[in-house]
Amino acid sequence: MKLDRLLARHQHMGRTAAHRVLAQGLVAVGGVVRRDGHYEVDRFDEVTLDGEVIQAGERAIYLMLHKPVGWLSATKDAQHPTVIDLIDEPDKASLHLAGRLDRSTSGLVLLTNDGQWSKRVMDAEHRVPKVYRVQTQEPMREEDVEAFAQGFHFPTEDIITLPATLEIIGVREARLTLHEGRYHQVKRMFHRVQNRVIALHRESVGELSLGQLAPGQWRPLTAAEVAGFLATGCD
Ligand code: URA
Repeated sequence: MKLDRLLARHQHMGRTAAHRVLAQGLVAVGGVVRRDGHYEVDRFDEVTLDGEVIQAGERAIYLMLHKPVGWLSATKDAQHPTVIDLIDEPDKASLHLAGRLDRSTSGLVLLTNDGQWSKRVMDAEHRVPKVYRVQTQEPMREEDVEAFAQGFHFPTEDIITLPATLEIIGVREARLTLHEGRYHQVKRMFHRVQNRVIALHRESVGELSLGQLAPGQWRPLTAAEVAGFLATGCD
């Protein structure tokens, strides 16, 4: 919401008075004086008027989790345990996933209550790289590298997948880097080269990798890690 609108609503102050207090330098967002009524504030920003808090910023939460095989990338499910069950955090009910993994896939998932941030992580337009370790039933072939780089037509969505990097690291093992996250994307891509994924693990998303996190463990992201997804470098 624009700052002048938030102020105008406060005790029915109205727009004229809102612009007056802005011009007088009485309004601060996150401790910084703002005079521009068009400045965008979100629910995480603390806004003060002459030192009085008129919007207490909500706490923004950003976590990474090492999802084990067998756990669902969902917040609620009647049958299976979900990744939320692994998290011990008082406000965990407010969290959503910034990108899902299949139940049979392990690896890095991100959780947050900040919808703008998760959109940034997930939108293909920002080209955030996601790296997967893949094991397949049949041997990898050299020509698959070119096929993944060219992209595949997915008729359901009627799209061509973005160029993907396939690095063959074993007879039936590869590291695959994608810049989008379509439904069952890795499995569907290998199906197109007449192969089948038998194990899938997400090693990293953008600059973030699991490091020492064991399956089932989670940790909050640092401020720099959160900001990393907002940097123009991901564009
Ligand atoms: N692609 C898949 O097929 N499955 C996942 O879990 C992630 C990417």
